[in-house]
Amino acid sequence: MTVKISIQIDTAKPLKGGAVAAAAEEGCTLGPAAQALDEASGGALSRALKVSRFTGKKKQLLYVIAPEGMDADFIYLYGIGRTDKDGEGMSALDWQALGGKLLKHANSVSASSLTVQVEAGAEAGSGIAEGAQLASYRFDKYRTTEKPDAKPTVKRVSVRTSEATAARKLFGEREAVGAGVFLTRDLVSEPPNVLYPESFAKICEELAEDGLKVEVLGEKKMAKLGMETLLGVGQGSVRESKLVVMRWNGGAKTDRPVAFVGKGVTFDTGGISLKPGPGMEEMKWDMGGAGVVTGLMKALAGRKAKVNAVGVVGLVENMPDGNAQRPGDVVKSMSGQTVEIHNTDAEGRLVLADALWYTADRFKPEAMIDLATLTGAMIVALGHEHAGLFSNSDDLSTKLTDAGLATDEKVWRMPLGDAYDSLLKSDCADMKNIGGRWAGSITAAQFLKRFIKDTTWAHLDIAGVAWSHKDRDTVPKGGTGFGVRMLDRYVKDNFG
Ligand code: BES
Ligand code: MN
Ligand code: ZN
Repeated sequence: MTVKISIQIDTAKPLKGGAVAAAAEEGCTLGPAAQALDEASGGALSRALKVSRFTGKKKQLLYVIAPEGMDADFIYLYGIGRTDKDGEGMSALDWQALGGKLLKHANSVSASSLTVQVEAGAEAGSGIAEGAQLASYRFDKYRTTEKPDAKPTVKRVSVRTSEATAARKLFGEREAVGAGVFLTRDLVSEPPNVLYPESFAKICEELAEDGLKVEVLGEKKMAKLGMETLLGVGQGSVRESKLVVMRWNGGAKTDRPVAFVGKGVTFDTGGISLKPGPGMEEMKWDMGGAGVVTGLMKALAGRKAKVNAVGVVGLVENMPDGNAQRPGDVVKSMSGQTVEIHNTDAEGRLVLADALWYTADRFKPEAMIDLATLTGAMIVALGHEHAGLFSNSDDLSTKLTDAGLATDEKVWRMPLGDAYDSLLKSDCADMKNIGGRWAGSITAAQFLKRFIKDTTWAHLDIAGVAWSHKDRDTVPKGGTGFGVRMLDRYVKDNFG
């Protein structure tokens, strides 16, 4: 069930039933809409203000049951902080969070709809709509026995503003990006018996409808190109490995593209270096990087971004099997470099090695950004708050860091260096695929760096942020879609 979200002029007829929300400044000064609701409710809001702790702080909520005779069933006040002092008002992210919070609360009291009266302009209105959209995501297609009273009740969200036309225009783009986020969340949530390289590639192919050019390479083609590091990971699986190339040409013909490359291990058992049983089901989201690249490409097409963008995803399943790769094997990457496999569970970097080389070689991108749920060590280092950023460019690092702050998908830069790189030395090949116990996320990044040619590059290790075990205002627990909004913002700010 999807929620219908619209932006309407503030004089539009109120919805019957449901919840209606209006603003109050810190110090409990009611805005015009809130004053009108207070009058219509016979002073119910004034009375609630007297007996509650609500002060109008940013994103604070107060709600009352509407008295008999009103259109609405529930009335909310939402706090907007102080508008008279610089930096103490609502930021773009605050408006989004508020939209998410209001929707969640309205569902918890089983309101049938939510109307939000906004007096703070078009960006505020669009932000609330965006937040409500992002918060409305659910992955419930496999729940056949969920009781109706456990399902969300709000079917409609209407944001009311005097600047409806401008807000609608802003939200149009955001809604398209939201659709990309939802695709990523769907991909990450799908079980591994449903989502495997071939079915993933099929979903990518369907994005032709959105205006993307999509190519799928199978094992034969990849073998011809010499992609042994990628193919080695998938060789123990009965599912055929795939490499998908998605292109959005929204820029000038001569513009070099920006490239996004994703790790798409649709299930990671560890292979012969088998993972322990408990928690292994989580490795269905080891295709999270590929999920972000796919959702991002949909987002860019959806908002008709003025950029030439390439998305490449390496799709494999890492299984133990009689034909599986062994520790000790040596494989040759498309680049010509050889790799001695020391641990078949360090498979993501092997997939990316060929995907990165292929992308750099074929598209000569202006910048290349890869995303991967690459290392458990990344979660140890940064927890679930930041993704790790590794890059050979200060400029690109700054741009990605800024985009992360603007979208609340934050990244933290980690070091690279020759001393780390030398931990990959092998006695019998050009390198081994692990660096040892220490600095596991960095040695993984050093490994990738050997396959980027001289491209301006950044690697985002999203192991700690691709999946969330707790609900946040605009990110329900489960697949987060982390990276889509951040990279969309990076593209918007630097290309268009
Ligand atoms: N997909 C995992 C990393 C991972 C672990 C992501 C937990 C999210 C949650 C990756 O393929 C892996 O197994 N990495 C190993 C590398 C090691 C063998 C050098 C790891 O992190 O333990
Ligand atoms: Mn692994
Ligand atoms: Zn993995």
